[in-house]
Amino acid sequence: MTASARRAVQGLSVAVRCRQVVKTYGSGQSAVRALRGVDLDVHTGELLMLVGPSGCGKTTLISVIAGVLDRDGGECSVLGQDYAAMRPDQKTAFRARHVGFVFQAFNLIPTLTIAENVSVPLLINGVPRKQAVEQAREMLSQVGIGDRWRDVPARLSGGQQQRVAIARALIHKPKLLVCDEPTSALDHVTGQRVMELLRGVASRHDLSLVVVTHDQRIFEFADRVAEMDDGHIERISAGKGHTHAESPHRGFDAPPKNEHPLNPHAPQGSNEPNPEHRS
Ligand SMILES: Nc1ncnc2c1ncn2[C@@H]1O[C@H](COP(=O)(O)OP(=O)(O)OP(=O)(O)O)[C@@H](O)[C@H]1O
Ligand SMILES: [Mg+2]
Repeated sequence: MTASARRAVQGLSVAVRCRQVVKTYGSGQSAVRALRGVDLDVHTGELLMLVGPSGCGKTTLISVIAGVLDRDGGECSVLGQDYAAMRPDQKTAFRARHVGFVFQAFNLIPTLTIAENVSVPLLINGVPRKQAVEQAREMLSQVGIGDRWRDVPARLSGGQQQRVAIARALIHKPKLLVCDEPTSALDHVTGQRVMELLRGVASRHDLSLVVVTHDQRIFEFADRVAEMDDGHIERISAGKGHTHAESPHRGFDAPPKNEHPLNPHAPQGSNEPNPEHRS
């Protein structure tokens, strides 16, 4: 059954509902009104892209949606829950269970290996360490860097660190994933493969995805594109994401033998990703 058909059966259509959400940084003369009344729905299982000029409020909005930043006003429900009604410990537990965040600056912990970095969300959810690291290694293989699990982040390229950040955000199988410029440090081919991976996961696991991007090359993966300007959503249009929705990408599932999840051109049996050509 497709994600949209499942949605219809279950009647679960809205993962995130924002109404007149406002957020101001600072006060008085130096106040910056970053969100000025945002209205936005994110449908269950869709990939919504959020685009707009620098400084228009995109990172602020996804931070509010992910529960890492408190709004000042308006309504925002995520998976039917309102962060404002939760105690801090409840909010932390809700986010640890249901929300993944891929930050613009990868936010990896420099002193941990990348397998340990990826296992953090599982450890927070009480998974024993050995099991968490094993799952992390499997997830790293799925994003094409399984052989680097013992390295610390500083030994990886920007694109490879981004893949670690994506693996960490997906490891606990969240229902909502927000990504801030997930392909900005990647070459074109790797960026496309990352989006195909995310697209496949969203389609088959009813993961709702909000992806902030300036990268026009990945617009084709969006189910809908929300254009933001000056703290508002100005327009929402349909994307072409449905054409990718049922493509045979595997997301959380293991890739078939001899095919690299992020590099179909790698030698058979190779676990080497494409070299990063960062422009
Ligand atoms: N911590 C902060 N303190 C004060 N002002 C902030 C803070 N974070 C963001 N802002 C301001 O809020 C506005 C929205 O910022 P935000 O980071 O959400 O924009 P953005 O659309 O993500 O931009 P970009 O595309 O450059 O990442 C900007 O004017 C920014 O300068
Ligand atoms: Mg930003």
